[in-house]
Parts: sequence; C-alpha cells; structure tokens
Amino acid sequence: MSAPTVSDAPGDPSFPVWMRSVQSQVEAALSRCLPPGEAIPGRLHQAMRYACLDGGKRVRPLLAFAAGELTAASPQRLQVVACAVELIHSYSLVHDDLPSMDNDVLRRGRPTCHVEYDEATALLVGDSLQSLAFELLARDDLGDHRRQLEMLRLLARASGSLGMAGGQSIDLEAVGRRLNQPELELMHALKTGALIRAAVLLGGLCGTALSAPESAALDRFAKRAGLLFQVVDDILDCTASTATLGKTAGKDAAAEKPTYVSLMGLERAREFAADLKSQALEALAIFGERKRRLVELTDFITQRKF
Ligand code: IPE
Ligand code: IPE
Ligand code: MG
Ligand code: MG
Ligand code: MG
Repeated sequence: MSAPTVSDAPGDPSFPVWMRSVQSQVEAALSRCLPPGEAIPGRLHQAMRYACLDGGKRVRPLLAFAAGELTAASPQRLQVVACAVELIHSYSLVHDDLPSMDNDVLRRGRPTCHVEYDEATALLVGDSLQSLAFELLARDDLGDHRRQLEMLRLLARASGSLGMAGGQSIDLEAVGRRLNQPELELMHALKTGALIRAAVLLGGLCGTALSAPESAALDRFAKRAGLLFQVVDDILDCTASTATLGKTAGKDAAAEKPTYVSLMGLERAREFAADLKSQALEALAIFGERKRRLVELTDFITQRKF
C-alpha cells in the first residue's frame, strides 16, 4: 500500500492510511471483546480468537466506518457495530469451511478452524461468535434505545434464514445445478450481500439521522456493493492463486457451484462487476463530499486481488 500523498491535508488521511487505522482499531476492539484464551473453556475461547483475530481484510468494518462518515458517527459506536458484524462474518466463514459445507482446509492463509481444532469446536465457535455479536450490540452505551432495537433487528435479519444463513442454504442446494441470473443474484444477495448491507446501514445508524431519500440511497448503494463483493469473490476464485487468496483457489468449479463466472463467463462477469460498481457509485451522488470513503472502498472491493 502506498504512503500518504503530499496532497492529503492533515486530518484527511489517504485511503490506505485511513484503512489501516480502521483495521487496527477494529483488531484491538475485537481482541478486547473476545474472552481471553485462558478463560474456561480455554479451547473454545482460543478457537474463537483464532477464527477472528489477525486476519481478514475487515471490509465490513471498513464499510461501517465509511458509512459513519455520512452521519458524523462516533468512532466508539462504530467500533461496536463493526465488531458485531465482523463476529457474524467470522462465524459464517468457520461454518462455510466445515466438511459438511465447502470442506475447505485453508482460510486467511492458515488451516481452517475445524482443521486447527476439530469439527465440534468449530461448530461451537460459530454459535458463540454469533451470540457475542448480539451481546455486543445490546450494550447499554450505544445510545438511543429505539435506534438500538432497529440495529439489533437489522443484524438478526441479515444473519438468519432470510439473510446469510438462508443464502448459504440456497448455495448448498445449488451444487451441481444451473441457476438462472435472478436465482444466482438472490443467492449472492443473501449469503454475502445481506451482511455487507447490514454493515453499511449499521454504520449509518451510528450518527445523526439520514433523510428518507438519503436512507434509500444508502440502501441502494449497500445492496449493489454487497452483490459486487460476491461477484468479485467468484472471479477471484478462478483467476487468483491459493497463495494470494489465502484460501483454496478454484474451489467453485471443482465443487460445481453456480457462480457469475459459470453463468456468464469471465469476461461478462467482469463487465457485470463494473456495472454494479457504477450503480453503487451512482447511488452515492446525493451525499456530496461525505461519500469519499465509500467511493474509495467501492474501488477497493472491485480491484482487490484477494
Ligand atoms: C469471504 O469474505 C467470504 C465471502 C463472503 C465472499 P472476505 O473476502 O471478506 O474474507 P476475509 O474476512 O477478508 O477473510
Ligand atoms: C461464502 O461464500 C459466503 C459466506 C456466507 C461465508 P464462499 O463460499 O464463496 O466464500 P469463500 O470463497 O469460501 O470465502
Ligand atoms: Mg460457500
Ligand atoms: Mg467457501
Ligand atoms: Mg468464494
């Protein structure tokens, strides 16, 4: 990543500097909210820390912080919602990698949780991370209680059978089948899009209220960005190496998963990603200068190499 450029005013860091600052804040906050590895039951707590810490791009926390710029949200609140979403995301990865799901042995450049520990522990890690996420979001210093209830509902809906878990169910049923584009879009919007959308909306909810047109615009952005994220994941699965990805490359084709690449081919999948990016950016027009970090993150999500 490049160093800050001379054109960056003090207090207005370049994207890489801003990104690293959010990533390290979130790493420290996650480490604080996870029980210490020595707390009984130690093996479970060590596995929870293994699954969450010291890895991952932290895209969802970054999106929450970037959306928080639209509403002048406090970093303290943003940290809480960012950690809650990242805990759910980390749980979803632990379960996604299980032998009964994608059966993966490599995640974030290390053995997957069930390989490093064992399958039963990996199940309990997922269960526990999910509970911890909601405990965190139910903290009594998160401000207005009505707003907090809205946040809890939002994250619950995004995680469950009408969100991430539902999308994962469709994914498992779709193995070996050919989905049409609306079916694939629904699967991606749920398994990955729902949590990305929640990250954006929760970040926005940490500050001053948005107007109705602004809320609708942010939601449009969040939905496009969520789908974009998984389309790029599909593309990287078949174009990047295992070493770069830190997870096994080529798994989707090997496991006969329907993806945007299997549906429309690599070139059209790339064009589709570019279209989604434009649509996401268009939705942000209403926010003027405040949209800067969301725009930069949309570029990052599109151009990422892993
Ligand atoms: C991978 O997500 C799983 C998907 C939802 C596509 P990320 O690419 O955000 O994984 P980490 O958190 O950076 O490891
Ligand atoms: C995972 O999608 C979505 C989740 C809810 C975890 P993938 O199965 O494509 O994610 P990777 O490629 O294993 O990270
Ligand atoms: Mg999967
Ligand atoms: Mg997977
Ligand atoms: Mg994938």
